[in-house]
Amino acid sequence: MESYIQLSKSPGPIGVFDSGYGGLTIYNEIQKLLPQYDYIYLGDNARTPYGTRSFDVVYEFTRQAVRYLFQQGCQLVILACNTASAKALRTIQQVDIPSLDPNRRVLGIIRPTVECIGDITENRHVGVLATEGTIKSHSYPLEIRKLYPEIEVTGEACPMWVPLVETGEYNSEGADYFVKRHVDNLMARDPEIDAIILGCTHYPLLLDKIRKYTPERVKLLTQGSAVAESLKLYLERHTSMEELCTKGGNTLFCTTEAGGKFGEQASVFLNHSIEVKNVTLV
Ligand code: DGL
Repeated sequence: MESYIQLSKSPGPIGVFDSGYGGLTIYNEIQKLLPQYDYIYLGDNARTPYGTRSFDVVYEFTRQAVRYLFQQGCQLVILACNTASAKALRTIQQVDIPSLDPNRRVLGIIRPTVECIGDITENRHVGVLATEGTIKSHSYPLEIRKLYPEIEVTGEACPMWVPLVETGEYNSEGADYFVKRHVDNLMARDPEIDAIILGCTHYPLLLDKIRKYTPERVKLLTQGSAVAESLKLYLERHTSMEELCTKGGNTLFCTTEAGGKFGEQASVFLNHSIEVKNVTLV
């Protein structure tokens, strides 16, 4: 992330980034819990999905998104995308931020999700449903092991689920087929699983179908409220960052796709219509 971009130290909105619409499930919960702040939501809908892309490509796209949000004045950016959190967060935190502006922060959503799981599983057998990129990165087992070494983690990649959400097909019969297939695969690999992390921000849109095909005794963990609670705590503990977050209660929605299309789809997630700005990431 080149250091020639002009960054200001003045307060700005909180940036929320996802490869597409999925991060709106996180934004919704954050905005509900912390309505006083301003936000910029950025969806890279023109290049979604990220889940099947290589490490280098996800890192480069995420770096461009963070750079854009920094240029818009965000001092704090949340990667509301597990794939980006798994593949790009650490490099951005360790390599890019120090050379760009060591006072800015980029936070991911895997750690706050993992922190909750210890209270949810009783028999210490946990499943993770996520994109291929997130599963292959092993981020969930690695993070879970740090906090709860006794928990056994089994992951299942669900490459069709994000396209089902992005194309608005998440209520279709075709979605039933793909949801059942991956839930069955996961449960067959470890029938003792008693809690499943929905480790992709798109998956809450498939929650009814996931519930339908998952044994009733198995608890399902979505990420929105865990991430929102963790952000609240972060801002309480980091008052100098909190002071750099503007408080007007406004949100600007940006997408790399056509704004009209994003607005239509996003209203399904948000239950209200929005103004959308089209942006180009470089
Ligand atoms: N929603 C994102 C996640 O949480 C990524 C989806 C994708 O672009 O593949 O992983």
